[in-house]
Amino acid sequence: MAKQEHSMRSIFDLEGRRTLVIGAGGGIGAVLAQGLSDFGAYVYCADVDGSAATVTAESVTRAGGASEAMRLDVTDPDDVGAAANALGDLDVVVLTAAMNIRKRLADLTLDEFRRVQRLNLEGSFLVIREFGARMAERRAGSIIVYSSIRAQVVEPGQGVYAATKAGVLQLVRTAAAELGPFGVRVNTIAPGVVDTPLTASIKADAEWYAAYANKSVLGRWARPEELVGATVFLASDASSYVTGAYLTVDGGWLAADGRYAPRL
Ligand SMILES: NC(=O)c1ccc[n+]([C@@H]2O[C@H](COP(=O)([O-])OP(=O)(O)OC[C@H]3O[C@@H](n4cnc5c(N)ncnc54)[C@H](O)[C@@H]3O)[C@@H](O)[C@H]2O)c1
Repeated sequence: MAKQEHSMRSIFDLEGRRTLVIGAGGGIGAVLAQGLSDFGAYVYCADVDGSAATVTAESVTRAGGASEAMRLDVTDPDDVGAAANALGDLDVVVLTAAMNIRKRLADLTLDEFRRVQRLNLEGSFLVIREFGARMAERRAGSIIVYSSIRAQVVEPGQGVYAATKAGVLQLVRTAAAELGPFGVRVNTIAPGVVDTPLTASIKADAEWYAAYANKSVLGRWARPEELVGATVFLASDASSYVTGAYLTVDGGWLAADGRYAPRL
């Protein structure tokens, strides 16, 4: 077969794309910043912890990429609005900032409920509203909000986190419906269990850690690097017909119920 003039490899290329990662100061977000850069993107690294964002941006730059850091609190409407105005034309926004408070509902205070809700759900709303509006004006863009398998399945202690992650999923679907006619795609990624500061207390409990590893059909936790492929896919032209999706990266957690492996 004759060699194609334009390789389809370029559909994943992010060269010249201006991307923002909110939550880039640590965990999955820090690794995504490097991953987007490796595919050619300019990466703004934003985090409520400004110095952590700077560490990530400097590391991306040291690795040969183009990046700068900014402090951004997604729970502050003024902050999010100002960032959307200041950064102007962005091709991609990735939101990973979130938190969990693992307590039974009976023990969860209203203040704790509101803290998680404010970051995970209100933060997602503000990011979609502010950056989505700018992208709609330009008739282009991709927004990726991190949800979780907890949008679908729970265990004791996941009450408010799971509720916010299910909320994020429906927000994303609604945004996809509203922004699709303006050429803006909005998708969500649902990790299973990933080794980051968010799950450090689980990792510290050997029984809990092993139970989570065994729940996935791959029999292990994810490394943050394993979220890069899905994120680059949704950020790039490779997903030009994908919007409103709930993309699981969960090692098969949701595929098998895991109660019992029959002797066959
Ligand atoms: N780690 C997992 O096992 C796992 C599983 C399922 C889903 N997720 C989801 O993936 C995403 C990333 O998780 P992670 O493990 O990297 O979390 P993490 O806690 O390791 O990192 C979150 C980052 O967000 C930043 N942040 C916190 N509040 C902020 C605010 N108000 N404004 C801006 N930045 C803020 C933190 O400083 C931190 O750098 C989250 O949405 C999480 O719910 C993670």
